[in-house]
Amino acid sequence: MSTEVFDTLIRQALVIDGSGNKGIKQDVGILHNQILAIGNLEHCSAKEIIDGHGLVLAPGFIDVHTHDDLEVIRNPDMLAKVSQGVTTVVVGNCGISASPYQLDAPPPDPINLLGKKAEFQFAQLNDYIEQLSQNKPNVNVVALVGHTALRAQVMQDLSKPASTNEIKQMTSLLISALEQGAKGFSTGLAYKNAKAAPSEEVECLAKELKSFGAIYTTHLRTEFDGIVDALDEAFSLGKTVDSPVVISHLKCAGKQNWGRSKEVISFVENAQKSQPIACDCYPYHASSSTLDLNQVTDDFEIFITWSDKEPSMAGKTLAVIADTWQISLMEAAKRLMPAGAVYHGMNEKDVENFIQFPMSMIGSDGLPCDPHPHPRLWGSFSRVLSHFTRDRKLLSLEQAIHKMTGLTATNFELEQRGFIREGYFADLVLFDAKTIKDNATFSQPFECSTGIKYLWVSGQLTYKEKEGVMTNVHSRAGQFLKHR
Ligand code: ZN
Ligand code: CU
Repeated sequence: MSTEVFDTLIRQALVIDGSGNKGIKQDVGILHNQILAIGNLEHCSAKEIIDGHGLVLAPGFIDVHTHDDLEVIRNPDMLAKVSQGVTTVVVGNCGISASPYQLDAPPPDPINLLGKKAEFQFAQLNDYIEQLSQNKPNVNVVALVGHTALRAQVMQDLSKPASTNEIKQMTSLLISALEQGAKGFSTGLAYKNAKAAPSEEVECLAKELKSFGAIYTTHLRTEFDGIVDALDEAFSLGKTVDSPVVISHLKCAGKQNWGRSKEVISFVENAQKSQPIACDCYPYHASSSTLDLNQVTDDFEIFITWSDKEPSMAGKTLAVIADTWQISLMEAAKRLMPAGAVYHGMNEKDVENFIQFPMSMIGSDGLPCDPHPHPRLWGSFSRVLSHFTRDRKLLSLEQAIHKMTGLTATNFELEQRGFIREGYFADLVLFDAKTIKDNATFSQPFECSTGIKYLWVSGQLTYKEKEGVMTNVHSRAGQFLKHR
């Protein structure tokens, strides 16, 4: 006897549920947008049956650190993300967000990483949510409100601390966004347009988080020599405002800082004993952002990804450019600005330690507008599964998946996502752990990963490796995920 119960039935895949627990070979049945049943579903039928033998079924990956704010609107297929197994992105990191933001001026650094002036038109988070519901991206979206974005809208001079009145205006923008469903508040205190903000300014804003149960995420004031003090600033702030803290892209930046990951990790672990703290990291030992004169050095390679003034120099190293122009690295950098860069400024062992740190979530920090992006945009999740998990054996498959799914969903309170459980949304990825591989490289950054066989968002088949592209047979299923 056989009844047609499911839309989709995935048979006999190794189901790794996102909790970190060991995978179990079983069947998973999807109906509409939900995981309806898990177990032995041998006698059930479905509109579509997929043979999962030899494959892993995991919750869709959550990219906890992105700058996809405008990309999900501009390019809703989100191939860079779905092709590596991602079904949800968190936007608004590092103090920069596309909403609430509206300004009749070119976006200041580093808000310019998100897009061009005309694309910023979301004075309220609600406007952004409305646009998303029209454009319907392939991935779900979770939003943070950026501190620098707030500053840019209410302050004349970003090189100063905000005045009492400016803080008041920023607070009201932040509160509205939290009321409309933002998950939290982010800062990017290392950037020149936020640097002048003292802890007190950030604290005044962050104290609004508590009543919403929202979180504070931060690109630290420095990731270089002063990292421990910067961590301390973030943790003290979290304690004062009584809200969870997420450290963005935890790293030891700069040659002098190499080898300090163990020290940094034990500092974080120690603080975790008395307050909720999480962190994210990406699986590469090169960073990427706008070109920053303070980071110009000959200690390591700096690769120019774009330049407004000298576009033809994109794709060359700063050293080669300086050599061509017969000037110093610093002079060359000044001539390129505004520009983007990849800094090969981390130590591989440190990166491995952060990836292995049980508390770290995986986020890409990819920059979708970059004409020559860091490969993390297309390859982060498959690289963790191939390089760090299968090849280097630094994580079990279960641990790696937990860092991309259940851990993140728990820290960000994403309801009914991030785990394979009955009744949860069917955000799922079916992949081959033996062949999965990131193909994006520093020289060829726009490459889909190998091994992501099928991907569903809220039960809708969204990506199929066989066709190499989006299935496009269904309408896109991504949703804005409101906080509580
Ligand atoms: Zn950042
Ligand atoms: Cu970032």
